[in-house]
Amino acid sequence: MGTKNVGFILGLIGFLFLDGLLLCMALQVHHYDFVLQEANFTRLCSTKSMLTVNGSFPGPTIQARRGDTMYVNVINQGRYGVTIHWHGVKQPRNPWSDGPENITQCPIAAGTNFTYEVILSDEEGTLWWHAHSDWTRATVHGAIIILPAAGTTYPFSTPYKEQTIILGSWFKADVMAMIQNAIATGSTPSNSDAFTINGQPGDLYECSNDTTYRLPVESGKTYLLRIVNAVMNEEQFFGIANHNLTVVAQDAAYIKPINTSYIMITPGQTMDVLFTANQNLSHYYMASTPYVDSGILFPNTTTTAIVEYEGNYSAPSSPFFPSLPSNTDITSALNFTNQIKSLASNEHPINVPKNISTRIYITVSLNLLLCANGSCDSGTGDRQAASLNNISFATPQIDILQAYYRNLTNGTFDRDFPSEPPFFFNFTGDVSNVGAFTAQGTKARMINYGEVVEIVLQGTNIGNAPSSHPIHLHGFSFYLVGTGSGNFNNVTDPLSYNLVDPPVVNTINLPRSGWAAIRFSADNPGVWFMHCHFERHSTWGMDTVFIVQNGRYQNQSMLPPPAYMPPCY
Ligand code: C2O
Ligand code: CU
Repeated sequence: MGTKNVGFILGLIGFLFLDGLLLCMALQVHHYDFVLQEANFTRLCSTKSMLTVNGSFPGPTIQARRGDTMYVNVINQGRYGVTIHWHGVKQPRNPWSDGPENITQCPIAAGTNFTYEVILSDEEGTLWWHAHSDWTRATVHGAIIILPAAGTTYPFSTPYKEQTIILGSWFKADVMAMIQNAIATGSTPSNSDAFTINGQPGDLYECSNDTTYRLPVESGKTYLLRIVNAVMNEEQFFGIANHNLTVVAQDAAYIKPINTSYIMITPGQTMDVLFTANQNLSHYYMASTPYVDSGILFPNTTTTAIVEYEGNYSAPSSPFFPSLPSNTDITSALNFTNQIKSLASNEHPINVPKNISTRIYITVSLNLLLCANGSCDSGTGDRQAASLNNISFATPQIDILQAYYRNLTNGTFDRDFPSEPPFFFNFTGDVSNVGAFTAQGTKARMINYGEVVEIVLQGTNIGNAPSSHPIHLHGFSFYLVGTGSGNFNNVTDPLSYNLVDPPVVNTINLPRSGWAAIRFSADNPGVWFMHCHFERHSTWGMDTVFIVQNGRYQNQSMLPPPAYMPPCY
């Protein structure tokens, strides 16, 4: 694999008091080297050179136990600066290693290196890492496996085997050149040419049969799939022919098991799924196909892998195919998503914030920006854009964390991200007389340490094709206490909140023309990015920053910066 896991135990001992019981856990420190390098890959009948970690696509899996710390030395032997983000790792007090480019650090320049300190806390299950610079995450990503702490087990019977399943996007063109061109012309970036499972498009694409990913299974055994949606711009329906799935965790937190024939997973999300090989000895497709509720043009293709039973039998000429919801089936998507509830057991308790001190209401829109001489390529001569509270995020030249920490007053960012949209209208109704144009800015929302925050995200119908949005927050797992369609009603909708066992997640599906309410306690000081995990929307400005200020005590304050941070140029 090329991953060097020195993985030695430094003999760190952690103590944890649980109900008066003293548990003694050996927390480990793991070391990995990530070499960013160009490598040649052949897919869909053509070969291209692309940026990878250690020459592999998807990149290496890194693994630890709950509460461990990982040091990942990123050695950039590529052609341009890059950063890496540890998606879903809260990084308590440690925004220095969070990764989003020009938010918490400047890029690791070609020919240099930087060591990330990835501090795990209560995450348990599957997360992932990915590049967080322009669109480099298309080829630079991999899984993070977080096993239960030593001496503890899964809250379900131990599976016979585990397998990481990474859903990805494949572009025939050079992704970096493609996105730079789209930004320069204000146009919509191209669709991907294929979806992939573990780096392979599968049998339904040209020149792909020989390399389709295959999962051998033994009859009667149960397997744990750690599924990561690393796709760039589309949510996905996923299933395995003839086999039921049992979803047991999402975003590295356990949920009440859901039995289902398919899942819907948004870019950024991770799901741990059990299935038992209890069908006739044969070959069965697992398949992943886009769910696109805007109904506008999208890559309407399906990636497949094959579950192959071991034993003596004559395999069918073509494996069985799963029946998945149709690509625009909103009802099936929401039927699945609405079943997700925290496990909320004694071993895995939750603590839903009840007394809210800070309420923030954020509209999520697709927009336009004016373009010099009306010469841009959006179709109207304007520039494609997107916004939160009608502010299209402009990425600063120097990272916001550094500017904040060093109190630089050079206008890197403003502290006045608004707590509600600039004006109210029927967000999810006929918006034909509401302009599509948005303001632009680099604005952060300041939050005091310890505030108890509720954010209501409100989709709008601005733009020619409203869609759902996978909204992701760095630095926290938060409770998804409610979702619904239409405009949020702040009197009636809170009455239907789930304050008993809401899911604890880092990425949500904000339904098309609907709302979602999330809650968290601001107990993690730092600079934390929030954005749509559709790369296209994030590029267009569907992003903002929360700055949680230090509390009174040292253990409520940001860690000091590491001795070396990549310089900004
Ligand atoms: Cu998956 Cu800003 O991240
Ligand atoms: Cu979006």
